[in-house]
Amino acid sequence: MAKSILVTGGAGYIGSHTVLQLLLGGYSIVVVDNLDNSSDIALKRVKELAGDFGKNLVFHQVDLRDKPALEKIFARTKFDAVIHFAGLKAVGESVQKPLLYFNNNLTGTITLLEVMASHGCKQLVFSSSATVYGCPKEVPCTEEFPLSAASPYGRTKLFIEGICCDIYRSDSEWKIILLRYFNPVGAHPSGHIGEDPRGIPNNLMPYVQQIAVGRRPHLTVYGTDYSTKDGTGVRDYIHVVDLADGHIAALCKLSDANIGCEVYNLGTGKGTSVLEMVAAFEKASRKKIPLVMAARRPGDAEIVYAATEKAERELNWKAKYGIDEMCRDQWNWAGKNPYGYGSSDSTN
Ligand code: NAD
Ligand code: UFG
Repeated sequence: MAKSILVTGGAGYIGSHTVLQLLLGGYSIVVVDNLDNSSDIALKRVKELAGDFGKNLVFHQVDLRDKPALEKIFARTKFDAVIHFAGLKAVGESVQKPLLYFNNNLTGTITLLEVMASHGCKQLVFSSSATVYGCPKEVPCTEEFPLSAASPYGRTKLFIEGICCDIYRSDSEWKIILLRYFNPVGAHPSGHIGEDPRGIPNNLMPYVQQIAVGRRPHLTVYGTDYSTKDGTGVRDYIHVVDLADGHIAALCKLSDANIGCEVYNLGTGKGTSVLEMVAAFEKASRKKIPLVMAARRPGDAEIVYAATEKAERELNWKAKYGIDEMCRDQWNWAGKNPYGYGSSDSTN
């Protein structure tokens, strides 16, 4: 029988790509998403891309904090595991509205965990983030590095990691994998699903993509005086399809007898500067990205990239794609969908 997986936040950027890979891998999927930061069109396209496997996808527009609604979903289907993407993720917004972030991300997660426990579903894969490494003193970041929170958003990730460890300590039937993502970019190679942020993008590549399609005039490069090869910030960009495949590897790992509560980085182990990323995107799109050099963005780290050995060794997973493929697929998605899942008059 196909394994049945509940995917929270499955209509979002990483969730939609993961749901597609899961369907193609033969899993049966139920998505719960309140569509606060996503569109149901993403899931319609996932269904199409999955072909015959598309019939194994069910969607409920439900907020995770709505416990009775979640209870009903768990009463109807016996899930083998949950992949938990749902959450708010804008670092700057979390500084302005910390309670919104604590309420949504923490209450949502606690409600989910309570409902899982009461239905005997004790296997979880959680979307954590490299943000928990704060401004690392050295690189690559190994899973053992000291952790810190530079924003309320980051604090929600730290709290949830801690909550998961505590739950496992209280009940060893739980099996939990915490995945610390580095910087997901790119899109499915079909160009039919991709990232579609609401409002002004906070992150580098969605911003660059909107410049290429004529929606924004220029990129502000935050910081040109870092101790890096060209003075701009360095990050570990990872193709979203590689990241999605990392979740399948994590699900497989959950069948190990003694997994407990374990943490893995999902990155490529390679650092790329802002200017290198822009150059790769210009090459892929053949569009010029005008730049305005500016001061550092408060709270930004200088260089962050992952140690990948633990995931390679224990999950048997390794990223396959480089920045040229990431930019190629990002541009393919942007060119086909300049306004994401919306139309030119429905987004800004
Ligand atoms: P996203 O915003 O595209 O997807 C999150 C989804 O969760 C959205 O579809 C949103 O509508 C849904 N959601 C939010 N709160 C909800 C709630 N209370 N109930 C039901 N649904 C809710 O974001 P993403 O980039 O796909 O990120 C997925 C996860 O990965 C998030 O937890 C994020 O913090 C984490 N993460 C993302 C990045 C990144 O750069 N994209 C990096 C590290 C970690
Ligand atoms: N940058 C610019 N101009 C922009 C946007 C970004 O120069 O308009 C630079 C940043 O200064 C940084 C690099 O591009 O040097 C990457 O910035 P992003 O905002 O794309 O990514 P961050 O590494 O700052 O943060 C992201 C998510 C976090 C997550 C982290 C690790 O926003 O939530 O990746 O996964 F925690």
